[in-house]
Parts: sequence; structure tokens; C-alpha cells
Amino acid sequence: MTDIRHHQIAVAATDPAYAERAAQLALGLGLPRCDEAASPQDTVYRYVLSYVSGEQGAVLQLQARGPDAPGPLYVDFVSGTLGYRQRQAGHAHEPLARAVGIKNRLTAPSVVDATAGLGRDAFMLACLGCRVTLLERSPIIAALLRDGIERARDLPAGAAVIARMHLLNGDAAAYLAALTEEDRPDVAYLDPMYPGRDKSALVKKEMRYLRAVVGDDLDAPALLAAALRGARRRVVVKRPRLAAALAGPPPSSTLMGSTTRFDIYLAAPTSAR
Ligand SMILES: C[S@@+](CC[C@H](N)C(=O)[O-])C[C@H]1O[C@@H](n2cnc3c(N)ncnc32)[C@H](O)[C@@H]1O
Repeated sequence: MTDIRHHQIAVAATDPAYAERAAQLALGLGLPRCDEAASPQDTVYRYVLSYVSGEQGAVLQLQARGPDAPGPLYVDFVSGTLGYRQRQAGHAHEPLARAVGIKNRLTAPSVVDATAGLGRDAFMLACLGCRVTLLERSPIIAALLRDGIERARDLPAGAAVIARMHLLNGDAAAYLAALTEEDRPDVAYLDPMYPGRDKSALVKKEMRYLRAVVGDDLDAPALLAAALRGARRRVVVKRPRLAAALAGPPPSSTLMGSTTRFDIYLAAPTSAR
């Protein structure tokens, strides 16, 4: 659920070369603009969205303010950990691949990632050959994700994988409920924010930002219910290893990882909606 208050976040045109893009972004997100260059310390905003120069041009980033603020958050599918994981990808034995039921790339299922966030899981699924529709309801997180997708699309290393990813900004429960029979995905994948996720997860920069921007996904049980009606074959829910399952029917099976767990709900053979 979008938690951040509009008075806490603003769009800055830190680099004059991207002033027009910043103005469009502020307009699109309904956020105020602040002039960081004029008064970098004085801003009343706790978070600032801005375009900065990266290797391939503009990168959209979210920066927390204040003395203990972590570094900026931006989506990067090509370098860093995700780029490394892509280069290693192809592993049908990965827990995520097993959870969604991938046997080989040629028969990889279609997936609705109902909680896209920063797109890491969706990207791994696309690396494994799945066509993934990503739903993210926070306009701010969706803007960061769209920016990362657009940048990766322009690079040879990312283009083929990115072509399998289709991002929508909106509520996944409503999306799943409105699907026509032929558009139902094989798999619905859920990774909702977990209230009070453990401290080691919280210290991670990405998780700190996500929690600040979207809060807790307290309506996750309703999303599970919608996913169970929408998916043809199975619903997969990622949970912290020792967390309770989401409220609702019990999972058909679970796959344990070192820090996370996948709860798998198999659809009934003639799953009625
Ligand atoms: C823990 S994050 C997901 C992280 C993601 N799996 C990744 O790999 O980056 C949960 C995200 O799901 C989004 N979300 C939760 N419920 C949603 C819903 N019903 N529809 C769309 N997005 C939702 C939240 O806004 C948040 O950004």
C-alpha cells in the first residue's frame, strides 16, 4: 500500500540536462518539484527522485535525505548482482525456477508477477524463459522499474530478456479479476511486503526504501484469493523462511531456501473462477 506522504517526496532536476524529463515525471506522478542545486541541505522532503547521468544516459534514482541515509535506489538489470545472476542463469534447478514449475526453457510458463517491486524476481523468471507481466501498484516504484527496464532494453545483453517483460502500473488483484479466459497466466507469483520482516532484511537498502515508499502489504490475503482464481496452473508465494503462510487455503507444498520459502498452491484441474 502506498505509504509515503506526498509532502515527503519531491522530484529534483539535479542535472539541468534532464530538467524537462524531471518536469514530466513530477507532473505524471503528481509530486512537487524541489530545487536541490539551490539548497541541497534545506529541502523539507525526506526523499528526492531525480535523473542523474549514468553510462548510457539518464538514470532515475530515489535518494533518501539525512545523515544516515543509504545510497540511492535505482533499478539496474545489466550490471551488479542481477547482471551476474543473468550470466549464470539457465538453471532450472534454482528454487525460483522449481517453484514456478519450469522444466526447461522451451516450456517455461507464462507468469503474472503480482508484486513486481524492483523487478528482481521477474527478471530472473524472464531469464529462465518465462513471459512475465509485472504489476506494481506504487507509481513511484513503477517509475523506477520502468526506467531500469528501458535502459536494459537498449543493451544487447539485456534486450532479449527484457522483451519478455511487460510492466503495468496498477493493482494486481483488480488485473487478475478482469482477465479474459485466454489471457489467464499459467502462474501467478506473489512476494508481498512482510510486516516486520526480520532485521537482516530490513538493513538491506532496497528493503528500507521499499518499506518507506509502499509500507506493508496488509491486503496480501485478498491478492492470494484473486491469484488463485486467475492462475491456470499454480500460485507461488515467496515468504520469509519461518513466516506463517498467508491467510487462506493451505499451500499444496513448500520449497525451503536458506532465507526464503516458496509456498505453492496448485490449481484444481478444472479451476473454476
Ligand atoms: C517485497 S516487494 C516485491 C519485490 C520483488 N519480488 C522484487 O524481486 O523486486 C512487494 C511489492 O509489491 C507491490 N504490491 C503489493 N501488493 C500489490 C498489488 N495488489 N498489486 C500491485 N502491486 C502490489 C508493492 O507495492 C511492492 O512494491
